[in-house]
Amino acid sequence: MIKAKKQFAIPALLFMAVGALLVASCAGLDTRTLLAPAEIDVPSLYQLAPHDMPIGVAVPAGKARNSLLKSPERQVLVNQHFSQITAENIMKPSYLHPAANRFFFADADALVDYAASHGKTVHGHTLVWHYGLPAWIVEFKGDAVAWSGLMASHITGIVAHFADEDVVVSWDVLNEVIADVDEDRDGTNDLRRSVWLDNIGTGYLAAAYRAAHAADPDAELYYNDYHIAGTPAKLNAVLDMVGEFQSDPDPVPIHGIAFQMHVRLDWPDIKQIKASFARAAATGLKIKISELDMSVNTDRRGRRGSMKALSVAVAVQQQKRIEQIISAYLDEIPEAQRGGISVWGIADADSWQRTESPDEWPLLFDDEFKPKPALQGLANGLARRR
Ligand code: G3I
Repeated sequence: MIKAKKQFAIPALLFMAVGALLVASCAGLDTRTLLAPAEIDVPSLYQLAPHDMPIGVAVPAGKARNSLLKSPERQVLVNQHFSQITAENIMKPSYLHPAANRFFFADADALVDYAASHGKTVHGHTLVWHYGLPAWIVEFKGDAVAWSGLMASHITGIVAHFADEDVVVSWDVLNEVIADVDEDRDGTNDLRRSVWLDNIGTGYLAAAYRAAHAADPDAELYYNDYHIAGTPAKLNAVLDMVGEFQSDPDPVPIHGIAFQMHVRLDWPDIKQIKASFARAAATGLKIKISELDMSVNTDRRGRRGSMKALSVAVAVQQQKRIEQIISAYLDEIPEAQRGGISVWGIADADSWQRTESPDEWPLLFDDEFKPKPALQGLANGLARRR
């Protein structure tokens, strides 16, 4: 629990951090790291979550050099702060289904075993995506019937494998199927071009959920996408699709909408985020924040800034904004519809954003696995119990 007297105090932190930075720079140490974790007091994030809502994290696994399974530093943080795990990469199609007649489950099984033995659940990511596909799917030749069979056997093979694992509780069935831009400016983005749309047609959307549900009737099935909290035309398309699923005479088994929430310090506006959560909640489905991270050195248009280190001031802005977003989620999503909140990575150095820019600090722990103010922000948002 956060003790009131130890709540993150900005003046105290500023004082300590400036002092620490001065000492570090005099000593010739790396000043890219914020050196003031002392005021951050978060014994366990997931224990702050209201009503046992899952608090998750995406983790590297398998052959990754930074795999959770061979990293004691990462294991300490995951065990302490998170109740759910998402594989950052190793449960994607190219990993799990490398050849037409061959699935590869060893790495994912090891991660699921880790989760089970540490009391964590697993959110499966992801079954049907335009990206992350094995070459044999991209190059497959066949008519719509053959493609539908391919997709069904792909989904069934994966979901059925994990169906008996009680800890694998949910899946991103469709990932990012909506285009980024409203090309025809009608207020609703179209579907994204993909091998699935091109070869099967729009019927692949519902078929994917039906196949996943048949393979594991107990799993919660999500639609997962990015920028939907800040792009109304993209959210409109998601809600139209969900509306069609729900009004089908044989309703399509979808249980949730996952907002990835790869957000920036200045985008989306918090009012827009709240409105988007409220609109999604009106579907009655579960709503999850599935991939939260916050870039601080990239503006709303995607332009890189000039930061070379994470300043205390920016770290505090990041903290406050994460707290606002978590509060917005808890305010707008009724308790029974909360699918939980997951962050997309453990420490800054692991973040996918670092592959695009070395000067980003999007996560809750720094390059040395020390807690950042962002961690306190998430904790404070959760601790306002409701
Ligand atoms: O494993 C290979 C390694 O063998 C090779 O040496 C190295 C050289 O580039 O590449 C490694 O694979 C990379 C993999 O990450 C593991 O680091 C891939 O090239 C790279 O494309 C892959 O990026 C992942 C990306 O999805 C694409 O799958 C990111 O880690 C992952 O964070 C990112 O996650 C996505 C979600 O799945 C969907 N939502 C957006 C989110 C962020 O982009």
